[in-house]
Amino acid sequence: MTKKITIAIDGFSSTGKSTIAKQLAKQLGYIYVDTGAMYRAVTLYAMQQNYISETHFNTDDLISDLSNISLSFGFNEEMGFAEMFLNKKNVEKEIRTLEVSKLVSKISTISEVRKKLVSEQQEMGKNKGVVMDGRDIGTVVFPNAELKLFMTASADKRAKRRYKELIDRGDKVNYEEILQNVEERDRIDSTREDSPLILADDAIEFDNSNMGLKDQFNRIMSLVNTAIE
Ligand code: DC
Repeated sequence: MTKKITIAIDGFSSTGKSTIAKQLAKQLGYIYVDTGAMYRAVTLYAMQQNYISETHFNTDDLISDLSNISLSFGFNEEMGFAEMFLNKKNVEKEIRTLEVSKLVSKISTISEVRKKLVSEQQEMGKNKGVVMDGRDIGTVVFPNAELKLFMTASADKRAKRRYKELIDRGDKVNYEEILQNVEERDRIDSTREDSPLILADDAIEFDNSNMGLKDQFNRIMSLVNTAIE
């Protein structure tokens, strides 16, 4: 039997982290954990409880309510990936809206939120055989991961990808607003005090601005094979 490893995929928003993570998990028979979905679910909860909106943010109320937030993933056989559940309710669609995207980086700056999610993520990956994507996987969650990838692409390419995703889903969005959101999240995610998005010393940087999905998959699979050997 080949050895099971931990694959950490970090990078800016909309760099295709989840696409490659899902492909790798399928190919290797590994668990895939989308940690961004967890931060998005906490954001949705905070919005529902009116702890946060575009004009206010009551961090103390959110922090004291954290123990009432239960997150889990449920595998959707038809779609072939795990969907996000918040307090037993499937919120996969709701967490992907632009409204959540606009507030999620603020929620992600709260150390108490990060502490809770990081410990749940470490638990999910403790037996290896996991592909996890996010912003702090190779630096904080699994600093000893055997393979660390850091995905980048130009902001314009990423905004175009996200715009297409939302339009294909039937959302009414405008491109400029998406580009602004991508740039604003990059800024907050990489400058926050707790676990900012940074390139780990031993991560391999991957700019896929001009790379097709097939080419990307083949290149990354060869890195995986080297790490597994
Ligand atoms: O991967 P995503 O775009 O769905 O992530 C949404 C936000 O969650 C992102 O802007 C920052 C935050 N996040 C984080 O702080 N740490 C992670 N490990 C994953 C996501």
